[in-house]
Amino acid sequence: MPAVVVVGMQFGDESKGAVVDYLAEWADLVVRYNGGSNAGHTVVAEGQKYKLHLMPSSVVRGKRGILGAGVAFDPEVFLQELEDLRSRGKGVDVLISLKATLLLPYHKELDAALTGGRLGTTKRGIGPAYQDKMARISGLKVSDLFSSNFPKRLRDVLEVKEDELRRAGVLTGDLEEYYRQLLERADSWREALEPFVGDDHLEVNAAITERKFVLFEGAQGTMLDVDHGTYPFVTSSNAIAGGACTGVGVSPLAIDAVVGVSKAYTTRVGKGPFPTELTGDLARYIRDRGGEYGTTTGRPRRVGWLDLPMLRYSVLINGIGYLAIRKVDVLSGLDKVKVAVAYEIEGEEYRLAPPYVDTLERVKPVYEELDGWSVEDWSELIREGWDSFPEEVKAYVEFVEREVNAKTIMVGVGPEREMTAPTPALGDLLSL
Ligand code: GDP
Ligand code: IMO
Ligand code: MG
Repeated sequence: MPAVVVVGMQFGDESKGAVVDYLAEWADLVVRYNGGSNAGHTVVAEGQKYKLHLMPSSVVRGKRGILGAGVAFDPEVFLQELEDLRSRGKGVDVLISLKATLLLPYHKELDAALTGGRLGTTKRGIGPAYQDKMARISGLKVSDLFSSNFPKRLRDVLEVKEDELRRAGVLTGDLEEYYRQLLERADSWREALEPFVGDDHLEVNAAITERKFVLFEGAQGTMLDVDHGTYPFVTSSNAIAGGACTGVGVSPLAIDAVVGVSKAYTTRVGKGPFPTELTGDLARYIRDRGGEYGTTTGRPRRVGWLDLPMLRYSVLINGIGYLAIRKVDVLSGLDKVKVAVAYEIEGEEYRLAPPYVDTLERVKPVYEELDGWSVEDWSELIREGWDSFPEEVKAYVEFVEREVNAKTIMVGVGPEREMTAPTPALGDLLSL
């Protein structure tokens, strides 16, 4: 079976959790390769709702998961999620990469004090943790936690960071006392994390060699990628499909396919350009029907029409051959549904989104209007299968497929696992 990357095509929250959970029926391994607890992946299954931040979405089906080297690993969030899942009767079969970046409590405080307001981050410490990773003199890895040199490394790091922590008001008292308290906390994490840590690159590459079904679960989305998104209104990791290779240590040649996840419309939480953004009643209609409030922060999400120049950019950057289109039910009841097919910039039309903030602020979307659909109860249609769906829904999905040149493997019409309609192309993916 194939190695498949599931990647967000928009600004995050595309429903990657639901897609990974659906595909995990066949998967042997689910691998998170980027980001940290800024992610909020929702899985609704077996009458329960799970909001996963650090855990791979495979935990809901009790399948094996990996947190790769590219992840910013927050021990406190992991241990909290572990406890929550166990208290809900879920066993957690997860490996944490020893190469993952260690995210410490002060990263969260620095995020809240510095980046949070300016960029509208999730305040989960992501930017500051990756900043320290890249700086090297102030970064720590999960492996450091298990080294006999940890006390010395932590002290060295705190010496480098002391001024910054004081300036941000994170450290107010005695450095030695702060160090001792942190060391104590780290001791308690070490014991609890010991059974989970290991070599992600060995396990994932072995599974690929054995032709197991390996699913890479992207966090955030293409337009939030630090190199390819709407910088600086992005996250601090590589969310794109290529991040699966660097974030785990697998060859690009090992990836068989990339599934791009998109809502039937667009949302964005936090700051940054949003060419197809809607305001007023229509925005409220979509936000309320779609429950568009952040999974991690509870903030209302900005909403807008589907943006094909952006999706085409995503297809290009990620090598997307397959689409998972979610939340088609949310647009139900609208007479007409608009889709941006191009951007107009100073009188010229562009079919591909230019990923530059200043340009994106100025583009004028060129819309095409398609017939809407009105479905009260999708369960009957789900039972009958994709062929029985209203012509307008099929026309919408086929229009997107044609415009971005990729095949749809599933259409989502509700948050629950069973509210996914597989299409014939799913069989193509599974038989790779
Ligand atoms: P992720 O971060 O990409 O995993 O997405 P989130 O979980 O943050 O946000 C997606 C939201 O949409 C969650 O509340 C899901 O339960 C919900 N959802 C997923 N698929 C569908 C769908 O097809 N229809 C509806 N109405 N909700 C969906
Ligand atoms: P999932 O995996 C949506 C956004 C934040 C902010 C910017 C930077 O659930 O799709 P950060 O905390 O990463 O420094 O914030 O990125 N953001 C997300 N938006 N879904 C996410 O994850 C996000 N992770 C970060 O709102 O605008
Ligand atoms: Mg989310």
